[in-house]
Amino acid sequence: MSVSQKPFLAALGGKVLDRPPFWLMRQAGRYLPEYRKVRQQAGSFIDLCLNSELACEVTLQPLRRYGMDAAILFSDILMVPYGLGQKLDYLEGEGPRLDPVTNVAALERLTVSRFHETLEPIYQTVRTIAGAVPDGTALIGFAGSPWTVACYMVQGGGSKEWEKVKGFAYRDGKGFDALIALLVTVTVEYLSKQIEAGAEAVQLFDSWSGILPADRFRRYVIEPTRAIVAALKAKHPTVPVIGFPRNCGVMIQEYTQVTGIDAVALDTTVCPVWAARHLQTLKPVQGNLDPIFVAAGGESMVLATDEILRSLSGGPFVFNLGHGVTQGTPPEHVAILADLIRAWPDRR
Ligand code: CP3
Repeated sequence: MSVSQKPFLAALGGKVLDRPPFWLMRQAGRYLPEYRKVRQQAGSFIDLCLNSELACEVTLQPLRRYGMDAAILFSDILMVPYGLGQKLDYLEGEGPRLDPVTNVAALERLTVSRFHETLEPIYQTVRTIAGAVPDGTALIGFAGSPWTVACYMVQGGGSKEWEKVKGFAYRDGKGFDALIALLVTVTVEYLSKQIEAGAEAVQLFDSWSGILPADRFRRYVIEPTRAIVAALKAKHPTVPVIGFPRNCGVMIQEYTQVTGIDAVALDTTVCPVWAARHLQTLKPVQGNLDPIFVAAGGESMVLATDEILRSLSGGPFVFNLGHGVTQGTPPEHVAILADLIRAWPDRR
């Protein structure tokens, strides 16, 4: 199948398809027993991300079960700070831990000199997956957006209030701008390398875009995203970029209008009827079933899925979740969801 015929890429190109293509954020991961097996075999989570054969294997696992229209590279957004030399660990059941970068002195200890060398196994994973995805299935590369990656780099892990990263930004605007600028530069290179290795679209995950006041949203989310998209377009004009500005409320409209992204991924909170009218008229949209409906299953999952399909399948649309698949999700619920989406042309 030629690239332009891949349904996922056609939808991102603005085509309205009878059956919406789909993939799911975090489609690979701990809810799958076959993932847990490979994860154990690999050692640590970082070992898995840097083992091209095993990372390719876990990328393909969900496709074998559910036949998604796109594979997403198996890696993590925090491999970028890891490539900059920041100490990173994933603690069992607690999530990521990093040596926090809370000021300019710590920022100056980061280095780009070994970035591509350290992350080369990830580019190799992309090449390996590109040679192994089924016909008609697209391959997505990804990175975290500068703001969201900075959140973890400065905070040193997840947080409720994110007071360290906001404190750094609000106390030392110039210093924090230097961190964002560094992340813009390396993210462009990182995504370019993924594209050159075979990624056919890329997604920017901005999981924490929703915690900023409007003027700071423009400075740390919109402007860096615009810069990344412009630089990628200069090198790879035909590769679509999907932006995922999670939980950013009304700012999603400005984000969709001015960043230059090709498609916008909707989080769980965005009303699909509103999105059809105010976002899908600007750009193709992707989303946005609450992943907890999939964990819960049953009639409520069916109704929520159909509401999204009904609202958004009249325009260019990729079905997805509003956030990642959760660990406790029964794999058979995902199979039911995949069947519901595939049967939509006959059910609508
Ligand atoms: O979607 C996919 O299947 C591709 C792989 C992928 C992972 N993380 C694998 C992963 C992608 C695209 C991500 C993105 C990511 N990572 C985001 C953005 C999306 C979002 O969820 O908001 C963020 C914020 C991270 C950072 C991160 N990585 C956290 C906070 C955690 C710990 C929480 C958790 O779920 O464990 C991770 C670890 C992680 N990333 C796992 C996986 C499969 C679990 C690690 C394990 O197997 O032990």
